[in-house]
Amino acid sequence: MPINPALAHLEDRLLGRIPLVIGATGHRDLRTQDAGAVRVIGVTHYSSSAYDDLLVAMRDPRVQAVQIPYNPGQRAVESKVLPMAADLGLGVIVMRPFGEGALLTSRVPAAALKPLAAFGIRTWPQALLKWILSDPRCHVAIPATSSVEHLQVNASAGDPPWLGPDERAYIAQLAGHSS
Ligand SMILES: NC(=O)c1ccc[n+]([C@@H]2O[C@H](COP(=O)([O-])OP(=O)(O)OC[C@H]3O[C@@H](n4cnc5c(N)ncnc54)[C@H](OP(=O)(O)O)[C@@H]3O)[C@@H](O)[C@H]2O)c1
Repeated sequence: MPINPALAHLEDRLLGRIPLVIGATGHRDLRTQDAGAVRVIGVTHYSSSAYDDLLVAMRDPRVQAVQIPYNPGQRAVESKVLPMAADLGLGVIVMRPFGEGALLTSRVPAAALKPLAAFGIRTWPQALLKWILSDPRCHVAIPATSSVEHLQVNASAGDPPWLGPDERAYIAQLAGHSS
């Protein structure tokens, strides 16, 4: 789970403190916090078609984190969800950082990653993870992997230095999704 350690408040909001993330429509489940069973409540949805509902759920004062898909090919959260999360001070967990693997199917040549070497980027998955974590509104990315080797590579993307707008635009271009 690559984490952007530059964000001090992350430790309060996320590290070791989210035992459970529940769905945006799971208001019934919010009551479990009253029973002391849950310390932090988050809301999530995987589809941009549900973001209007997600935005309503995010305003619930009991909610402290939101989990959304975000990668160079899925940027719908940039218009409303990420700005509101930042305004409300919510922790942001990014799922599907590789678009369920779709962003890893075309081979990005090593030469194309050379301009990103100063940022500790050696592989395309690292570039995609760092693209996410360099947005200060995003705190954690949760790539899925069945491989320990991939896990180690992915985890190394959680260290600074962070990318600026030019490098993020370059990676989006490499991914075939220029903004
Ligand atoms: N809350 C929700 O509604 C919700 C919905 C969907 C997903 N999720 C969560 O979001 C996370 C993302 O899962 P996801 O499967 O949807 O998409 P993903 O993380 O975008 O992509 C996973 C794919 O990337 C590959 N991969 C990972 N690291 C790699 C590396 N370093 N090099 C090459 N390939 C690599 C994996 O294959 P290998 O196994 O070969 O590494 C796997 O095929 C999961 O933790 C999932 O539980 C949550």
